[in-house]
Amino acid sequence: MTAPLNDNNENNGYDSIRRSYRRMFFYQIWVRSFFDGDGDGVGDLKGVYEKLGYIRSLGIDAIWLCPVYPSPNADYGYDISDYTAIHPDFGTLRDMKMVLDRAHELGMKVIMDLVVNHTSDEHPWFTESRKSRDNPYSDYYIWRDEPNNWDSLFEGKAWKYDPGRGQYYLHIFSEKQPDLNMDNPEVRSEVKKIMRFWLDMGVDGFREDVINFISKREDLPDGLPFVPAVNGMFAYKDGPHIHEYLSEFRKVCEEYDCIQIGEGPMTTLKNALTYLSGKNKTLDMMFSFDHMMADCIYTEYIHRPFSLRKLKRAFSKWQYGLGGKAWNALYLENHDHPRVISRYGSERFRNESGKMLAAAYIFQQGTPFIYQGQEIGMTNIRLRDINDYKDISSKTNFHKYHIRDTLEKRMHRIHLSSRDSARTPMQWSGERYAGFSAVRPWFCVNPNYKTVNVAAQEDDPDSILNFYRRCIALKKHSKVLTYGSYREFFPRSREIFMYERVYKGMQRLVICSFSKRFTQVTLPKKYADRPRRLLLCNYAADSRDDMLFRPYEVRVYSFPRSNTDND
Ligand code: NOJ
Repeated sequence: MTAPLNDNNENNGYDSIRRSYRRMFFYQIWVRSFFDGDGDGVGDLKGVYEKLGYIRSLGIDAIWLCPVYPSPNADYGYDISDYTAIHPDFGTLRDMKMVLDRAHELGMKVIMDLVVNHTSDEHPWFTESRKSRDNPYSDYYIWRDEPNNWDSLFEGKAWKYDPGRGQYYLHIFSEKQPDLNMDNPEVRSEVKKIMRFWLDMGVDGFREDVINFISKREDLPDGLPFVPAVNGMFAYKDGPHIHEYLSEFRKVCEEYDCIQIGEGPMTTLKNALTYLSGKNKTLDMMFSFDHMMADCIYTEYIHRPFSLRKLKRAFSKWQYGLGGKAWNALYLENHDHPRVISRYGSERFRNESGKMLAAAYIFQQGTPFIYQGQEIGMTNIRLRDINDYKDISSKTNFHKYHIRDTLEKRMHRIHLSSRDSARTPMQWSGERYAGFSAVRPWFCVNPNYKTVNVAAQEDDPDSILNFYRRCIALKKHSKVLTYGSYREFFPRSREIFMYERVYKGMQRLVICSFSKRFTQVTLPKKYADRPRRLLLCNYAADSRDDMLFRPYEVRVYSFPRSNTDND
C-alpha cells in the first residue's frame, strides 16, 4: 500500500535532480500571493519558509519559485531590475538562503525563474543603453531606426520610440520590458553569470521564461497578420541561433546538478523535440501551450466554448509526440491562466471536477506541476470593476480589444480570461483574509475562502487536497504510471477522456468524465472482460460495479494478471 509522504519524511528526496526529475512532483509558488510571513499584506520568502512543511506533506519533491528579484512590477516580477538580489517586498538574500536550506533538508529541490528575454526598463543596463548609441550597453537591447509591424503581447505595437536615443526599442511584452539583444555575446555572458550566481547559492535549476523567443531573426521581418494582437508572433519565436545560445547556457548547468525547464509559447512539437532530445538537447522539459487553448485562441482574447475534443487532441499530441523521445512537463494551471475548474471543469461540481482534472493530467507521462491553490480547487475571481484588476494583460484586454462590446460583455471576458484569477491570495483558512495575512492583502481574496481553504480540507479525508495527496502517492509509487507508454481510447467522445498506461505488461486505465450528467462508459475491448481493480475514484465507494459514471467521475483501474501484480 502507498503511504502519503509527510513533513517527517526529512531527507527522503532524491539526490540528483537531473537523474530523478522524471519521478518528481513540482509545486509552483507565485510568492506575492502565497503566504505573508512579515505582516505587510504581501506574500514573501518568510511565508514560503513557513509553509515548506505543508508543501512537503503533499508529496512534493521540488518547488518552482516565480521571480523574486527586484522589479517595478509592471508585470509582477517578470520585469527584472536586478538579477542578483531579492525584491524588498519578498525579503533578503538571507531569506532566500534559508528557504533553500530548509527545502533541501526536507528533501525538496528549488528552481527559480530565469527571465532573460527582456529586463525591466528600470534595469541599469537599459537606463544606460537608452542614453546614446555608443555606450558600453548600447547594444544590450534591440534598437532600430524604423519599427517593423510586430505587435507586443501586452500593449499594442512591439516598438517604442525613445526620444533620448532617437530610436525605437523592441518590447515583445509591455513597454516596460525591453527585449535583450541575445546576439550580443556580452549579454549571453551576463546571463551565464546570473545562472552561476544562483546555482552557487544552491538553486537546483531554472524555469526559463519564454526561452524560445530569445533569438530573433536578424532581419526582423514583418509578421503575417494572423490574429489581432499577435501580429509577428510567429516571426520571433524559435529563431536561428536559439540552439547555439541555449547550449551555452546548458554548459553552465552541466557543471552543476541542475535542470532546465523552458517555457515554449507557441512552439511546435517538432521544434520542442529539437530542444528536448538529440545531440542539441538543451532543455530537460518544456511547457507547451496547446492544451491551454481548449476554450480560447492564443492569447485568451478570443474565447470559445470549452471543447473536450480539443483538450484531448492537445494532450495526446504531446503524449504521443514526446513519448519515448523526450519528457513532458504536465500542468493545468500556473500564474498566467485562469483557474482550471472555472475553465474545463464546473464550479457547481467544484469538488468532483477539481479531483477529476487532477487525475486527468497527473497520470499522463511526464512530470506534474501543481500551482498554488490548485490543490484545494481555487476558482476564478469576478471583480466588478476593471480598476480592481492588477494584471497588465487584463487591462489591455479590456481597454484595447472588443471595445464596442457592452461593459457587461467586456467584463465577462475579463472574468473568463484574467491572469489575476490565479493570483489572488492563497486560501489557507476561513479566518479573515483567508489566513494569508493578518492585514489587508495587496490583492482581493476570493470570497469563497470561507469554504475553499486548506484548513478545512486538511480535516476532510474526501477533500480535493487529500485527493491530490492520493494521486501524488499513487503515481510516485507506480512504475506504470511514471514510465508507462500512453494510449488514448475513444478520442471522438465528447464526454469521456480515457487513456491507458502500459509498462512491462502492467496496465492502468484512467477514465475521466467531463460531463455534468450521468454517462455510460464502454471499456475498450481488450479490457472489457478482464478482472479489474479500482485504484482511485473521486466518489465514495459504490456497490455497483457498472460503468455508469457520475458527473465528473474519474476512475483509475489496474488489471492484475495475478495477485502479485501490485506494481
Ligand atoms: C511568461 C510568464 O509566465 C508571464 O507571467 C510573463 O508575463 C511573460 N512570460 C513575460 O515575461
